[in-house]
Formats: sequence, structure tokens, C-alpha cells
Amino acid sequence: MEQSKESPLVNISASEPQQSYEGLWPTNVKRENGVISIGGVLTTDIVRTYGTPVYVIDEEDMRMRARRWKNAMDDAFSSLAGADVFYAGKAFLSVGVAKWMREEGLGIDTCSLAELVTATKAGYTGEMLGLHGNNKSIEEITYALELGVKHFVIDSLAELDLVARIAQENNMIANVMLRVTTGVHAGGHEYISTAHEDQKFGLSVTTGVARLAIERVLDASSLRLVGLHSHIGSQILNINAFKEAADVVMGLRSQVLHDLNYDIREIDFGGGYAIRYTDIDEVPPTPEEYAHELAKIVRESICQTGASAPHVSIEPGRSIAGPSCVTLYSVGTIKDVAIADEKHRRYVSIDGGMSDNIRPALYGSNYTALRCNRASSEEKEVTRIVGKHCESGDIVVHDLALDKDVQAGDILAVPATGAYGRSMASNYNMLPRPGVIAAKDGQVRWLVRCENVNDLLNLDVDA
Ligand code: LLP
Repeated sequence: MEQSKESPLVNISASEPQQSYEGLWPTNVKRENGVISIGGVLTTDIVRTYGTPVYVIDEEDMRMRARRWKNAMDDAFSSLAGADVFYAGKAFLSVGVAKWMREEGLGIDTCSLAELVTATKAGYTGEMLGLHGNNKSIEEITYALELGVKHFVIDSLAELDLVARIAQENNMIANVMLRVTTGVHAGGHEYISTAHEDQKFGLSVTTGVARLAIERVLDASSLRLVGLHSHIGSQILNINAFKEAADVVMGLRSQVLHDLNYDIREIDFGGGYAIRYTDIDEVPPTPEEYAHELAKIVRESICQTGASAPHVSIEPGRSIAGPSCVTLYSVGTIKDVAIADEKHRRYVSIDGGMSDNIRPALYGSNYTALRCNRASSEEKEVTRIVGKHCESGDIVVHDLALDKDVQAGDILAVPATGAYGRSMASNYNMLPRPGVIAAKDGQVRWLVRCENVNDLLNLDVDA
């Protein structure tokens, strides 16, 4: 998997879709008469109507993953003080997706003005929204206050003062959680690990800044301290990392109760729950397993310290959006390039690449793919799937055992692209960003339409 191994040069063949939660493909993906369908719609039909590249979300699958988190947390924390699930909108947010999350009973963790506005367009009021970010703007803070967001997650002392001032000027009280850094280094790549000391996020428990922030919030008449927040990183398979971080957070909470006689009512454990990107990746814990472990940690801590049970929330993004989506690409140029020892490597170019999936280039992430317009022949050839950008690092799949008779015009499906695919897409080389389609019960519809050249030129003042 992507765990920042230096070179993911593994010959990966993609499994055929199976209808299981742990599988690599969304649950409503299958091969029918040689052609892969999603949500009951043939990929060949999708491509004929909507073109490529395109992200296709299996709506049922994404809702099911949201529901599983919600039910798992409700069950695990029912004998404690209850739990909430906030979908991390940064993974992928559109009005349609936000509506699904609202209907499934989740809140939304936002970190920008547009994410807040998107959630409100989907019918959210402030009570189930959180505002994150390490550099919130005055505009974002003011809008979130007007909405009455459930909490601001405060990332620094400077921001604490800023939110206090804006709330005071508006005669309001802002509910705040403090994002603390616990010193736990967890997650896949260094860039997605967020709770060690030398990085930009949070208030350090070790250096005492977190404690200072707590006292400062308690002194501020326009702030109400509702919780502590810890997000340790992303793509975390090891539940012990959550345990270590939770121990630090729960310890700080009980110290505050002891020293200041203040009961911090809520704890948020953030996101970071892992998914599979290829068949050779470890199968991650299920929501039920994660939820059970988190509840166990909380239970043990309150037994040891005698503190009351906190209300717990989490913010999964990838584990809801990631596995529900596949990207469809069309095959273009195919080139056999001579490499050492009289061998060659086959390069298959597709019509997207690092502009719709930056993760391989940014984190060395590994993906896999299947040809979906016709069934696989027996023979496979080790193939590198590359994009159409002007960079040699524009690789989608490093080494894929792909059908030898692949040809221009074939359609490739890359699974597990729902999180941090479209949301981190760019217009590099002036490529319009692909649209996002929802497939369900034999029907498809745009969630976000694809860009076209005019969309790009509309921003160019000389056009
Ligand atoms: N909560 C906070 C405060 C976060 O910063 C994040 C992710 C999440 C929740 C959701 O984490 P998830 O469950 O999706 O792992 N772009 C990277 C990941 C960076 C995520 C940043 N924060 C990637 O493509 O892997």
C-alpha cells in the first residue's frame, strides 16, 4: 500500500469485482457479459454519454459506508455518553453528497467557506457542522458564527484570540474544541501524519501550549470550551496509534477536571481510518472494530481517572468516500519502451492522470486498474498506466498485470478514487477537471458536471 515505501514496483493484478465491503470495488460493481457495471449501469453506456475521464460513485455503497460508521459509533457508545460522526468534507464534497450524509444522520466537518456553503445548500443548519483549519479567515469565522456551527476546532493561540474577538464583536458565544497534538506519529506518508511535534497543526500537549489554551478559553467570555480534538493522520491501520493519542487526550481532560474543576464534555478523535487501494493491501479494521476499540479506550480511561464519560465524535473522510468511487479513463497511446536486459516496459497512456489523481505523485500511492469494456483474456503483460501530463512522474498505476491485447479506445477503471481525487484535482496543462457521476438502481446523474474549455477561459480576463 502507499505507506511511503520507496518504490512500489509490485506487479499488481486487480481482482474482479466482488460484492463485499472489504473488497476493492464498490459493492454494486460487477462484470456482466464481459462489461463492468456500476450501480446497475454499464460502464460502456456511462462513457458513451458522459465521456472520460469521469469519477463514478456507487451511491448505495457510499451511503452504506456512512451508515455503518453512524451505527457502529451509536452502538459502541450507547452505554457511554453517545457519539456523533462528522463526514470529513475535504475527502469529496458536493451538495448531493452532503444531502446523502444528512439523510444518513452524519454531520459534516468543514474547513473552508465553500464547504460550509455547500453543506448549507444540502439543508444543514449549524448544529451538525464543525469548522476546522489552521488559518481560518475572518469571513469563514463570521459565517460560521452566523450559522451557529456546533464547534470551531481551534488550531492556535492566535486563532483562539481571533475567534474570541469576532464572537465578542457580534455579541455571540462560540463553542470551541481545541485541537491538541499528542506527539503520536501515525499514518501513511509523512505529509498525512499530523500529530507529531514538528508540523503546523494543533496545540502541543507536551510543551504545555494546549493547557495554556484551555485556560485562555475558560477566561474568554465569548468562548465556551466544549471539547478536545485529536487528528493524528491518515490511512492509519494500527489501532494502537489511536489508543496512544486517546490516552494523552483523556489524560489532559482529567487533569483539567482535577486542577480547574472543569469537565470537558466532548472528545473528537478526528479521521484517518484506512482503506485498501490494491488487492495486496492489508484489509483495514471495519468501522465496528474501530468504534469498539475507541469505546474501549474511553471506558478504560474513565475507569482509571473517575472522570465522567465524554461525548465522542469522529471525522472519517476516506473510509466513506474512497472505496465508493471508480475513475473511468479511455486508453490512448500504447508504447513498448526498451529497458535493461533486452526487456521492454509497456506504457499505456490514459486521458487523465495527475490532474485528477495527484496521490501517486504526491505520496507515492499505489493503485490498480481493470479493463472494463471487455472481459480479460488469459494473457497479461506488466504494464505501467500513465497520464497525459508533461511529467514523467505522471503515473497512475506503476506495474499492473493488464490484458496483453489492450488497445486504444479500451476503458480502464481505477478503484478507490473517491477520496482526495476530485477534491485535489487541478487544471494542470489546462485540462478541464472531470465530473462526478452518481450511479444507483440503473440510473446515473451528474453530481458535479465536468469542466470544459470555456469554463477555464471564463476566468481568463483577456479571453
Ligand atoms: N479530520 C481532520 C482534522 C483532518 O485533517 C482529516 C484529513 C480528516 C478528518 C479526514 O481524514 P481521513 O479519514 O479522510 O483520512 N490528501 C491526503 C490526506 C490528507 C488528509 C487531511 N486531513 C490523501 O490523499 O491521502
